Amino acid sequence: MTANGLRNVAGLRCVRCNQTVPLAESVYTCTACGGNLQIEYDYDAVRRSWSRDELARNTERSIWRYAPLYPVAAKIETPPIGWTPLIPAKRLGKQLGLRSLYLKDDGRNPSASFKDRATAIALARARDIGRDLVVGASTGNAGSSTAVLAAAMGMRARIFIPHTAPAAKVAQLLAFGAEVLAVEGTYDQAFDLCLAATQRFGWYNRNTGYNPFTREGKKSVSFEICEQLDWQVPDLVVVPVGDGNIISGVWKGFEDFKRIGFIERVPRLLAVQAEGSAAVVHALEGDGTITPVPGRTVADSIAVSMPRDGEAAVQAVRASGGFGVTVSDEEILAAIPEVARGAGVFGEPAGVASFAGLKKALEQGRIDTNWSIVLLVTGNGLKDIAAVMKIAGEPKSVPPDPEALADIFEKE
Ligand SMILES: Cc1ncc(COP(=O)(O)O)c(C=O)c1O
Ligand SMILES: [Zn+2]
Repeated sequence: MTANGLRNVAGLRCVRCNQTVPLAESVYTCTACGGNLQIEYDYDAVRRSWSRDELARNTERSIWRYAPLYPVAAKIETPPIGWTPLIPAKRLGKQLGLRSLYLKDDGRNPSASFKDRATAIALARARDIGRDLVVGASTGNAGSSTAVLAAAMGMRARIFIPHTAPAAKVAQLLAFGAEVLAVEGTYDQAFDLCLAATQRFGWYNRNTGYNPFTREGKKSVSFEICEQLDWQVPDLVVVPVGDGNIISGVWKGFEDFKRIGFIERVPRLLAVQAEGSAAVVHALEGDGTITPVPGRTVADSIAVSMPRDGEAAVQAVRASGGFGVTVSDEEILAAIPEVARGAGVFGEPAGVASFAGLKKALEQGRIDTNWSIVLLVTGNGLKDIAAVMKIAGEPKSVPPDPEALADIFEKE
């Protein structure tokens, strides 16, 4: 047991100034410079007490099979999170001339998005420190995830969303009993308002990037990919990026497994952003500095002006030897039916932005077609039906009359 009372947790390290900071209840960001924090483990201790064989014998089919690498004392009781299918997308891959393509369908999580991975660890932390109210800002998915899992645990959720959030996400929030504050502004404004309120009232805050525990939940996807590919680390993992917390979590997962000797290398990461919301990709193409952008795209989940985990995202992509691409809103919308029809997976716009980005990187000649490639599909298509209908077409309207049908089909 370490000084902070958590098995295996060594402490926190600032991603900006590299300072170490002890884990404490009120600490979210670096006490020296305000940068985001990364949780570090006693990797030697984990290595000594855990093995791939032991993992193979574990019958838990959820994120909780990786408990030695989480910064929490106990798992929480919720519907199962994670262990989502890694689907071989043979037809879709063939269409693109790829040897090996997989889709990680994270729309299958309890709240229908990837965010449940992060929420689980953030809520487990809240429980560890005796909090029963969780507050957060969200484009929609992180909030609805918090509402769903808080309800499962009997906790309260107070969520700030931009007033433009898709109806399905708002419906989820309300149905699961969250207190919903629809901010007359953007996601970035909702984030800042939530943060100011948290600091004033002393709430427990789950904001993406700001709370270092979210990244720790997101990394579970990489653990699963390693196991599901029978420890053959892929060559490329493609990730839709908004705040940059998923992609920095994906890197952290592979890095953690490398540090304990479960794998030998980290795959390249491809960061995909919408053209109007591409602060991380611009930073990757420049000197690494994040500067705000308008944050406008049809893919509401990745509509971010100032990415809240941008520094960690840039470091993750660079450390992996990866790169970034941008895609237009038209390309994102087109990806919805392409992934649905080519692989049987329904993604929301941000969820399938990964596919649009992969196509773009192929066009740019930056992909070796022999690579083994994993695409994260991060949110379910039912989350934003209005966006889907922009591309899906219209049903045929017919009168309730067999003769009218004959008129249509006998001419075919
Ligand atoms: C479906 C979906 N995809 C991608 C993202 C981007 O994640 P991040 O903001 O951590 O970069 C989000 C975040 O809200 C999301 O909900
Ligand atoms: Zn710092």
